[in-house]
Amino acid sequence: SPPPPALSPHQRALSGETLTVNGFVRSVRKQKRVAFAAIGDGSSLHTVQAVFTPEQADGLSTGVAVAVTGRWTPSPGQEQEHELQADTVRILGQHDSATYPLQKKYHTTEYLRTLPHLRSRLPFNSLLLRLRSQLTAHISTYFSNHDFIQVHPPIITSSDCEGAGEVFTVSSEPPSVPPSLTRQSQDPPHQPDDLFFQTPKYLTVSNQLHLEALAQSVGRVWTLSPTFRAEKSDTPRHLSEFYMLEAEIAFVEDLSDVMNVVENMLRAVASGLKSSHVGQELLDARAHEHEEDNTALSRATLAQRWQGLIDGPWPRITYDAAIQHLTHAVAQGLVQFDFVPEYQQGLQTEHERFLAESIGQGGPIFVTDYPRSIKPFYMAPSASDSADAPTVACFDLLVPETCELVGGSMREHRLPELLKSMDDHGLQGASSSSPHASDGSLQWYLDLRRYGSVPHGGFGLGFDRLLCYLSGVSNIRDVVSFPRWHKRYEA
Ligand code: 4AD
Ligand code: MG
Repeated sequence: SPPPPALSPHQRALSGETLTVNGFVRSVRKQKRVAFAAIGDGSSLHTVQAVFTPEQADGLSTGVAVAVTGRWTPSPGQEQEHELQADTVRILGQHDSATYPLQKKYHTTEYLRTLPHLRSRLPFNSLLLRLRSQLTAHISTYFSNHDFIQVHPPIITSSDCEGAGEVFTVSSEPPSVPPSLTRQSQDPPHQPDDLFFQTPKYLTVSNQLHLEALAQSVGRVWTLSPTFRAEKSDTPRHLSEFYMLEAEIAFVEDLSDVMNVVENMLRAVASGLKSSHVGQELLDARAHEHEEDNTALSRATLAQRWQGLIDGPWPRITYDAAIQHLTHAVAQGLVQFDFVPEYQQGLQTEHERFLAESIGQGGPIFVTDYPRSIKPFYMAPSASDSADAPTVACFDLLVPETCELVGGSMREHRLPELLKSMDDHGLQGASSSSPHASDGSLQWYLDLRRYGSVPHGGFGLGFDRLLCYLSGVSNIRDVVSFPRWHKRYEA
């Protein structure tokens, strides 16, 4: 037989239905004859109001985990349509209300960063977890609808893909923690020079090189994976461990095809968010956040931000034009920078921000064709590459506030040109004698050019930066549950 039709909360309330609500007490109000508690469970910003006798409310305080069983009834209060008239209340576990660090009051983000293991219980932090989960689902849907294969490249690698020297080295040396915490082992102690893999290995800074291998096998691949950078940058945009969304596309010959994937994917993600419950709650949360934190975006600005992603097309300008635009703006007195924009120096964050705000008009902007000298070895030359100012077929996607959100390029797929570029970048390439060396060199990567090489390109998007941008949270340390950055590790 078909299931009975779902009842609305109101119909359930009229029927006097008995319910059990499991959750955490967000706040309690105790009066002479009656007590009220707001109970939340992280599934929504909303709480359920439960009504108790003073005796029932005895052990209740902010943070206590409870199971309240009672009758769901229409509420006489203004704040909610229905409430739970408690019959029984069970306190589910210990809670020390005197020392609980998340009392009901405003906490600064810096204070909350010292409590990553607890702060995700706060309604807004729970919402960010649901946002992360939902974005992952939208991204997965977009890629599977467009014939991309999700792959799982390795975390332990031998190459510093970006060549920035910001790798964490993997070590098999025994940890120097108290012996009581280590596994009892019969193995002889490790010698410090006893490298587990013979040659040094690193936590990956980017999956790109391995994605290139897999794209040549199945055409279009993507991954959302942890990446690691031993960057000492103390900024609201950098972490030591972050998630990167990367895609690689074989058989494309034009950079604009890669940019189109970025643009269409982000448009699909923003549209999905806009029409979702999580999206609605993010906008609702903005109204409250705003009161306590005057740096927070308003609800209207956040909605505009999403719309800016949904509307298109996004401007695409060359790096050369960007430098000219910046130089011109400085000369006109429209803006002042700490660093003078210079062709060979790359773009500083302040430059990226100005470009997004002035040319992107508050939305995203692609900057393409950067000078070869400031980009990694694997990038292919621009179509209009010239001898006096050689450029590469690459792009950065810049958005307001967050600045660089995505970096991508066409990859050099011709063997001689790639070898030359590796030599120019001081990498072991042409000079290596063994063609299939497992010594940490990039010989395996060169094999991809030796055998059935195809034109291809791809990109990497900072997933946590995307979360910042879409949620309006200005610091990446507040959208990652357990953030790690230089000299900071809390739990
Ligand atoms: O621009 P990046 O360094 O590009 C690459 O690693 C390419 N190999 C990706 C590819 O083409 N497959 O990094 C890509 C993005 C940046 O645009 C930025 O959004 C993010 O990763 N990112 C970081 N996010 C947080 N913390 C850090 N330390 C980051 N470094 C880069
Ligand atoms: Mg980059």
